[in-house]
Amino acid sequence: MPARFPLTRRRLLQGGLALGAVNLSLPALVRAGEPRALTAGPGEALLLEQGQPKTRTWLYDGVSPGPVIRARQGEAVNVRLVNSLPQPTTIHWHGIRIDNAMDGVAHLTQAAVPPGESFDYRFTVPDAGTFWYHPHNRSWEQVARGLYGLLIVEEPRNVEVDQDVAIVADDWRLGDDGQIDEASFGHMMDWSHAGRLGNTLTLNGQDVLDIPVQSGERVRLRLCNTCNARVLELRIEDHQVWLMALDGQPVAPRELPDGYVRLAPGERADVVLDAFPDGLEPGKTAAITEVSGGQRLVAGRLILNGIIMRLAPLPVPPHSLPANPLSTTLDLANAQAVDLLMEGGAMGAMAQAMHNGQMMDMRGLVGEGMVWALNGVAGMTDTPLFSAPRGKTVTVTLRNDTQWPHAMHFHGHHFKVLERDGVATNSDAWKDTVLIDPQKTAKIAFVADNPGKWMIHCHMLEHQAGGMTTWFAVGA
Ligand code: C2O
Ligand code: CU
Repeated sequence: MPARFPLTRRRLLQGGLALGAVNLSLPALVRAGEPRALTAGPGEALLLEQGQPKTRTWLYDGVSPGPVIRARQGEAVNVRLVNSLPQPTTIHWHGIRIDNAMDGVAHLTQAAVPPGESFDYRFTVPDAGTFWYHPHNRSWEQVARGLYGLLIVEEPRNVEVDQDVAIVADDWRLGDDGQIDEASFGHMMDWSHAGRLGNTLTLNGQDVLDIPVQSGERVRLRLCNTCNARVLELRIEDHQVWLMALDGQPVAPRELPDGYVRLAPGERADVVLDAFPDGLEPGKTAAITEVSGGQRLVAGRLILNGIIMRLAPLPVPPHSLPANPLSTTLDLANAQAVDLLMEGGAMGAMAQAMHNGQMMDMRGLVGEGMVWALNGVAGMTDTPLFSAPRGKTVTVTLRNDTQWPHAMHFHGHHFKVLERDGVATNSDAWKDTVLIDPQKTAKIAFVADNPGKWMIHCHMLEHQAGGMTTWFAVGA
């Protein structure tokens, strides 16, 4: 079993309620159409309980998480990234089927923006749903220091919910002084094992996130895992919870047993619940917990603070979210088949890999900060893993020949998971990230309809930096 850096937050269960002190803490909404600046720079955030020290972080516009950017489906987003960090950065718009030049990948789609300079991102958002943004340069450090935010694309018509709550979950690695453990950045121990796991879980940058709700209210929760490496197992307790979308794309609504959802780094889930359907006592709470590692860590609470009257009941299950204009017709008979072998890491069998055009043994690779490989290659290459003509259906069979789970993320496209370990999944979900457990396989398929150069990498950001990264090309 992999050793787990434990989530040792001081308070596992907290008594006492501060009604009236509720604070959703997501910064002000920003409409996307107007050009707006987004400044990445040093800042401070209170991540621990009231009265504890603030943590020195790197933030967008000084807030943790960064401002929620909201756009209507099909609308233009116009953001000027201003770099006030001490190192170059970019913004990647995770899950957006974007114009390649705006994908924000340093060294592949743009040069990283040096300190003191800026870059204008302009693109339209084809799909409604829950997306996020983060740096794509030294992301293992920049995301860990707090650089990320949500990009919410609204459906063309209003969805039948009374409240729409975005929840960004992150695990920070803090020292006893409440400051980010900087000394451990770049530790090969993390890179070759699970990645950098934090010890302090926050929802929307808060120690415990309180969400005021009314009895009978239909609430949409948009959950996003921005951890560097931790696979979160969240539970929304005491409620019937419907899964509505994964990675921004609608699924046929289905009930989540025990309100449980497992989210790998980078993944999102949209869920809907009817709050306290028969609860009339104000102050009643229902916990949102993190339950990996056999613990029950309270990360947030729904707090009952009223009742709404409804003339007609809402449909149960809720109606599906409207479909997005994805290419969903897979021509599997004529598909281009690609194999992707994941190797390396601690307790793995990898003896050597190519790096920068040279075959190296493990010692040599570690000397270069490389511990993982895809198809025998550690790190980026000048030539793509594969090229597909535009419109071609591509299948990728991913085989995890390591002792660690990996969250494989594809840029610019959403895919369907056809099979796991050779067995059809019959899944209706269109994903941008797929979690593959040790010694497991997954076969995915997508239509390569977005021209350009697109990354494939593990979203455990230390694995990405440690070699688990490649790219593919789609013809114009
Ligand atoms: Cu969310 Cu290539 O990243
Ligand atoms: Cu990985």
